[in-house]
Amino acid sequence: MKRIFLLAGICAGIFANAQNTIVLQADKGKDIINKNIYGHFAEHLGHCIYGGLFVGENNTRIPNKDGVRLDVIDALKKLKVPVLRWPGGCFADTYHWKDGIGPKKERPSILNVWWGNVKEDNSFGTNEFLNMCEVLGAEPYLSGNVGSGTPQELSDWVKYTTHPNGTSPMTDLRQKNGRANPWQVKYWGLGNEAWGCGGNMKPDYYANIYRQYATFMTSAGKERIYRIASGASDADYNWTETLMREIPHNMLDAVGVHHYSVISWNKKGSATAFDEELYYTTMQRALEMEELVSRHAAVMDKYDPNKRVAIAVDEWGGWYDVEPGTNGAFLYQQNTMRDAMIAGTTLNIFNNHCDRVKMANLAQIVNVLQAVVLTNEEKIVLTPTYHVMEMYNVHQDATMLPVAVTSNDYKMGKEKLKAVSASASKDKNGKTHISLVNIDASKAQDITINIEGASYTSVSGRILSSDKLQNYNSFENPDKIRPAAFNGAKLGDGRLTLSLPPFSVVVLELK
Ligand code: AHR
Repeated sequence: MKRIFLLAGICAGIFANAQNTIVLQADKGKDIINKNIYGHFAEHLGHCIYGGLFVGENNTRIPNKDGVRLDVIDALKKLKVPVLRWPGGCFADTYHWKDGIGPKKERPSILNVWWGNVKEDNSFGTNEFLNMCEVLGAEPYLSGNVGSGTPQELSDWVKYTTHPNGTSPMTDLRQKNGRANPWQVKYWGLGNEAWGCGGNMKPDYYANIYRQYATFMTSAGKERIYRIASGASDADYNWTETLMREIPHNMLDAVGVHHYSVISWNKKGSATAFDEELYYTTMQRALEMEELVSRHAAVMDKYDPNKRVAIAVDEWGGWYDVEPGTNGAFLYQQNTMRDAMIAGTTLNIFNNHCDRVKMANLAQIVNVLQAVVLTNEEKIVLTPTYHVMEMYNVHQDATMLPVAVTSNDYKMGKEKLKAVSASASKDKNGKTHISLVNIDASKAQDITINIEGASYTSVSGRILSSDKLQNYNSFENPDKIRPAAFNGAKLGDGRLTLSLPPFSVVVLELK
């Protein structure tokens, strides 16, 4: 008798472990996945701006328009970058925007004190950034200097960039600098990491400063400006609570949150040489985003049940040691399939929380941290993270469809994580997309997706996978990892079945 029970138990264990199930509620879509969840971040740090996005107008080796690299812009256009945060980061609270306008030879040089004390010649400033955003088709998100600036300085920046012609000395200055009409600049950050590099402030103090700065940021254009408070680091829920309580909501559109997937701040580890245990720890850090977003949102629900104020996760991504031989302050790191796993799972979390998360900005766009593009002189490489962002851009501005995922565990010793993550949406053309990630480093995951509330007649898909987690695209072998067609999903009887290879990302399209 005992043996029969044991056998039954083992069988149940095997079956429970073999099949993952997802219920897709195709007729329960309500919230829009704001395209800005697919946003990016560009800081004056290392070679993000200089060498990455901008090579200078006089560069004859690297094709550029007004100094902006055409190869990088071309790649980013395919990504459909919706919003780009600039000029920092920590740099933002040291940046005085008037240093970066007007004739280039008259612009002062400064030291970039946060990032290696290198010379910042201000040759890439407000006009260059905003013109680049127009070429890219991305909305700018300007991060204002609250740490070492003044309310007047930020108020002037708003006027210089957005107010109609001939309405103030600032708009005259804009005209003198060759730009008659205002740009469209909706998104404004009031400082960055005010609890740290932005001024080491306490939350109450920052809330007061925020109110003061916000008061003088006046919109005179067609569009109301959207003000984003410098948000919490990770799980500092008290920070969010203080801002929600102390700042009137008519002057607050979003509260930031920053979270990096870092193994440990003292020992980050190599971006490419890591074992499965380190990979596992990175994924634990990445998946913490679910709890962070849920708990910051719960705090906000207390003060803003109608969800008017959004969460902007305006810095996220993997952070490792810099590549050997590169400047430690430049944060240049390679990007492997591990980063594809961070990107796929994190974007699924944001999609599923799109009722509150309205913006997110991957750190950073080129050559810094979890970059989508790496450059080396005239060469560029699209990273695995680029490919995930490109595959997922079908979700931009689509209606989120709820998914209930029952997943096998991915175990390491006594620890366990869910192996499978998913999100889904229906776009304006009626197509449904499901993005799926299997983070398990060695086991494929068989998945059944039960479809409720819709019937589909065709399925197609794309997959990003590789034979080693540590694989990456290099300047010598730039296409080692790229998306391929995925024909492994079978549709029938109101369900989809498929098998996800270890550490892979799949995006399915259903019609
Ligand atoms: O993205 C790099 C840095 O990380 C940013 O400048 C800062 O905001 C954060 O600590």
